[in-house]
Amino acid sequence: MTNWGGPATVLNRATSNAEQHAGDDDAGAHPERLRRRFPTVESLRLRAKGRVPKFAFDFVDGAANDEECARRNIRAFSGVELLPRYCMACETISTDVELFGRRYAAPLGVAPMGSAGMMWPGAEVALAREAQRRRVPYVLATPANASIERIAALAPDVFWFQLYRFPYSNHAITLDMLRRADEAGAHVLVPTIDSAGRPKRPRDIRNAVKVPFKIGPKTFFQVATSPFWAMALWKTGMPRTENIVPYTEGRPTRDSTAQAMQVRARGSHTWDELARLRERWKRAFVVKGVLHPEDAERLVALGADGLIVSNHGGRHFDGAPASVDMLPAIVAAVGQRATVMIDSGVRGGLDVLRALALGARAAFVGRPFLYGLGALGEAGARFVMDMFVDELRTEMQHVGIQSIDGASGITVRHPGAWQVRAP
Ligand code: FNR
Repeated sequence: MTNWGGPATVLNRATSNAEQHAGDDDAGAHPERLRRRFPTVESLRLRAKGRVPKFAFDFVDGAANDEECARRNIRAFSGVELLPRYCMACETISTDVELFGRRYAAPLGVAPMGSAGMMWPGAEVALAREAQRRRVPYVLATPANASIERIAALAPDVFWFQLYRFPYSNHAITLDMLRRADEAGAHVLVPTIDSAGRPKRPRDIRNAVKVPFKIGPKTFFQVATSPFWAMALWKTGMPRTENIVPYTEGRPTRDSTAQAMQVRARGSHTWDELARLRERWKRAFVVKGVLHPEDAERLVALGADGLIVSNHGGRHFDGAPASVDMLPAIVAAVGQRATVMIDSGVRGGLDVLRALALGARAAFVGRPFLYGLGALGEAGARFVMDMFVDELRTEMQHVGIQSIDGASGITVRHPGAWQVRAP
């Protein structure tokens, strides 16, 4: 069993981490004060909003169209009720879980996020280090601001790689990234399928934000009034789309790497392409962005070891259902043939437990980690991880379970669940 430590351990950890960030106002604060000030993900979000330039905060916090899907994700989790069981012995709780033959210390991971350095320069490195320390999966995004090779070296035990589609030159880039991920030792390949079209994000349009962001007359004031963010940027340098460096013509600058990503990555991996990827990739193969039980069925038939039920946090298709509302139908369609996981709208340990009770084996968390970094700097990675795991342990006590396997026995009421059957 992994000892995540009680509150005292958490505070001590936060202290030592905070000490490394002297000069960062909140990160240097007394840990008890930090926990009082930021008891929830929402409180971190509000703090990040005040500390990060508006264009960068909006890029992360925003979603497609009316942002209804992003709100729906969070509402839908709140609508899932778990029936508590009392009078059970819950002194020794283990959050350990096995995923694709490896033990992880909790059934939660860091979701892939491209350009995460916009919210906090150096985000990928901070999150990968924390994931390695805590032994939870870290999924590096294709358009990340850190390379496959760098993250594999920092987080060798927990490194997964998310793969976008590059139809350019008969998929030469896609296949080369697969090769690099393999050579770097990624445990799981995660092709994302839910990026069929270019999303419309009104906040980004209004802010005229692009990747790579530029500090010009319009954004200068926002940066000048965000001194901690500006200092982090000064320390780490301007972020670049690192994984694309080898595929850029000429000098791989911030502009040319972003441009290559923009022009060459496109669309949703087709069934044939997924089959090709499956054939080449010898380790665990997990498809992300699944919402329809028939797609889930078909992915399992082509050899996927796992699925991530996800609507990309509402960032692509505002009409999509909440991912948690599709989870039961997908679990029913897939049965024991693949490991079902979820993301989109997970905002605390209770949501992780809700997902497990509905049949997921793990839940991935996106924006909350970036809110933590925006609010507290690097120390935010640890702070959010502690928050989620401590909450999960507490909620496990409320439903009377001592291990992750026990979650399948929780009685659940889920009025929002879709009833779709695979034929
Ligand atoms: C993402 N997400 C994402 N997913 C993916 O497969 N590849 C990517 O490059 C990105 N990039 C990305 C950037 C940013 C800033 C965010 C916030 C998200 C989606 C991500 O993996 C995950 O599906 C959602 O973030 C989950 O929703 P929550 O937890 O943010 O509500």
